[in-house]
Formats: sequence, structure tokens, C-alpha cells
Amino acid sequence: MRPLRDADFPEVLAVVHGGIHAPDFMPFSFPWTDATGAEMDRQFLQYHWRARAELTPERWQLDLGVWEEGRLVGVQGVSTRDFPVTRTGETGSWLGQQFHGRGIGTLMRQAICVLCLDHLGFEEVTSAAFADNPASQGVSRKVGYRRNGEERWARKGEPAIMVRLVLRKEDLVRPPHDVEVEGADAFVEFVQARAT
Ligand SMILES: CC(C)(COP(=O)(O)OP(=O)(O)OC[C@H]1O[C@@H](n2cnc3c(N)ncnc32)[C@H](O)[C@@H]1OP(=O)(O)O)[C@@H](O)C(=O)NCCC(=O)NCCS
Repeated sequence: MRPLRDADFPEVLAVVHGGIHAPDFMPFSFPWTDATGAEMDRQFLQYHWRARAELTPERWQLDLGVWEEGRLVGVQGVSTRDFPVTRTGETGSWLGQQFHGRGIGTLMRQAICVLCLDHLGFEEVTSAAFADNPASQGVSRKVGYRRNGEERWARKGEPAIMVRLVLRKEDLVRPPHDVEVEGADAFVEFVQARAT
């Protein structure tokens, strides 16, 4: 896993166009996967470029591409708000549909939680998933998150329950392998840097 570079986007978009979920299901609070063709390309790129362009110490987001044996399989991100004070952030992730159900989603979430809690100064990590998304909730359960309430959302005009989840440091279920982290100090210095 490493931050996405512009040169990665053609490969990432090929996986996106290959499908992330069944067409009759929407796992995302913002239904970005409804876009198709060149509109998907533009919106996807703008989302990632905007996230980089708007990075501040208070509010930043980190999106890591996930590779398995040299092949890009998905993206695992974390986004924060008022981070110097709150020390919390929310994970979000997706895998190409052909890579679901093999434990990769659990491993990549464990890896970013180790990064956040051990190296980036987080006190907790949150997640949220619609009640009818057992895969995302399964990952959260396996990684040690606890349920933290429910919210009523409008999903494509229909009511849906969003389950909120929180992972405390002491509850993290670590992956079965050591997680090697490179560049965390440089990243912390970068996001904390202020224009003077
Ligand atoms: C959510 C997602 C990243 C999970 O990754 P994954 O690799 O498929 O999940 P894992 O294989 O690690 O499975 C984690 C657990 O959930 C369970 N699970 C996975 N899919 C399931 C399903 N459809 N129904 C019930 N349980 C399921 C697994 O059995 C596993 O638990 P177990 O080991 O006790 O059996 C992936 O499914 C995905 O990209 N989905 C579409 C996008 C999405 O939903 N993103 C999250 C939005 S909140």
C-alpha cells in the first residue's frame, strides 16, 4: 500500500470501470459509482486532486492504493477533520469486485489502522457502513471496531440506516504479519506544516 500517484490513475480507473459492487446495490454515502465513462474518469480524478489541493493541518485525507502481487486491487483511505484537536479520522475503502471476499479488505483496514494509531497520532478511528453492507461491517468487526449508533440517511432518495463504528486503540486486532511503515514522520511533518 502506498499513496496514489497520478501515474497510477489509469490502472485505478480500469478497476473502477470493472465494477466495485453489484449494480443494484449502493454501498457509498455519496453514490460516486453511478457515474460512467468519461464522467467517472473526470469526477474520480477531480475528487483525488481536490483532496490533495485542499490538504491542511486541520483537515486532510490520505488515499493509499492497494496492490496484491503487483496488481492494483483497490484503495484504502482515511480522512480527518480538526485533526490536531480531535485526533480522530474515518476510514473508507473499496476493492474491485473480483477481489472481494478473500480477506484483502480486512488486511488493508488493519494496515491503515496500524498506520493511524501507531504512527500518525490518532486516538481512535471511525467507520460507517450501511446496515445492508455485511462485508464492510464484517471487516470492522474483525478489526475490533464497536458499534457507535445509527443514522438515518437518504440513499438515492430511499431511507437507509447508516451504522457508525469506532475503533479504540486498545481494541485494534492487529494483522497476522508485522506492518512495515515508511515515510510516516515525513507525512506528519508535511500535513502539519503551516503557511507563515
Ligand atoms: C467492503 C470491502 C472493502 C470488504 O473487503 P473484502 O476483502 O471483501 O472483505 P473480507 O474478505 O476481508 O471479509 C471480511 C469479513 O466480512 C465477511 N463478509 C464479506 N462479504 C460478506 C457478505 N457479502 N456477506 C456476509 N459477510 C461477508 C467475511 O466473511 C469476513 O468475515 P469472516 O472472516 O469472519 O468470514 C469490499 O467488499 C468492497 O470493496 N465492497 C464494495 C465497496 C464497499 O462496500 N466499501 C465500503 C463502504 S462503507
